[in-house]
Amino acid sequence: MKKEVTLHDKTFEIFIHQDKIAEAISKMVSDVEREIGDDNPIFIGVLNGSFLVVADFVRQYKYNCEVSFVKMASYVGTGTTGEVRTLLGINEDLKGRTVVILEDIVDTGNTLEKLIGIFEDKELKALKIATLFYKPEAYKKDHPIDYIGMEIENKFIVGYGLDYDGWGRNLPHIYQLKE
Ligand code: IMP
Ligand code: MG
Repeated sequence: MKKEVTLHDKTFEIFIHQDKIAEAISKMVSDVEREIGDDNPIFIGVLNGSFLVVADFVRQYKYNCEVSFVKMASYVGTGTTGEVRTLLGINEDLKGRTVVILEDIVDTGNTLEKLIGIFEDKELKALKIATLFYKPEAYKKDHPIDYIGMEIENKFIVGYGLDYDGWGRNLPHIYQLKE
């Protein structure tokens, strides 16, 4: 395991080992299974960051379910731009369905707010939010987050799907920006 990695102009140090990530995912899966079970949920991953969360999450989910993706973009470098754009939307008919959004990380909540807006007029049975990482100090919104893998401090991280300007998504562990 590398203790440090350099991506573009920045150095990151090891922060969360992949075993801890796997534990957090398993906990999320059992929480969702307990509450939603075989209600035939549709899990919606938020690209690009959540592709590994979705892959690991759904392979553990023991009931029938569907999987789809949306694509949002807000970050430039290590700071959010505040403006969130939808690059790929939803095509499925979601009327009467239980939808669970699977996020890699919730930071300010801007992306989440925009996402929730996409589902507002879809007449869902229920909309639930699940995120692997959550930065409570950075979160500025009121919408409750139903399932949280791990709370982390308000520092920039990469790995396990999360990137710094496109790099770092392939790292199996989480690395934190070195000050
Ligand atoms: P928010 O809109 O501020 O909540 O940010 C959400 C999106 O920004 C996430 O889905 C990530 O794609 C990205 N993001 C937020 N924090 C981090 C981080 O620490 N590292 C890498 N990407 C992040
Ligand atoms: Mg994301």
